[in-house]
Amino acid sequence: AYVITTGCAGVKDAACTEVCPVECIHDAGDQFVIDPGECINCGLCAVTCPVNAIFQDTDVPAEHAASIARNRDVFL
Ligand code: SF4
Ligand code: F3S
Repeated sequence: AYVITTGCAGVKDAACTEVCPVECIHDAGDQFVIDPGECINCGLCAVTCPVNAIFQDTDVPAEHAASIARNRDVFL
């Protein structure tokens, strides 16, 4: 699944929600988050985000590792 990092906070452009074919991106308040159980790994959101806040879970930069749980835990 793709993961939204803290780069989204304070921006919340929401362009990602417009391109997601399965509508699995949701506003979690401080930032948007992706439901890992619904994401189909198409990558459209990542190329659309103007601040490059989105990464595949296998490719999240080390400094944003906590964002994997931040996204997932919203949907537990
Ligand atoms: Fe939606 Fe595709 Fe992004 Fe997953 S990778 S959140 S399916 S746009
Ligand atoms: Fe945030 Fe980028 Fe989407 S700023 S709301 S992850 S387009």
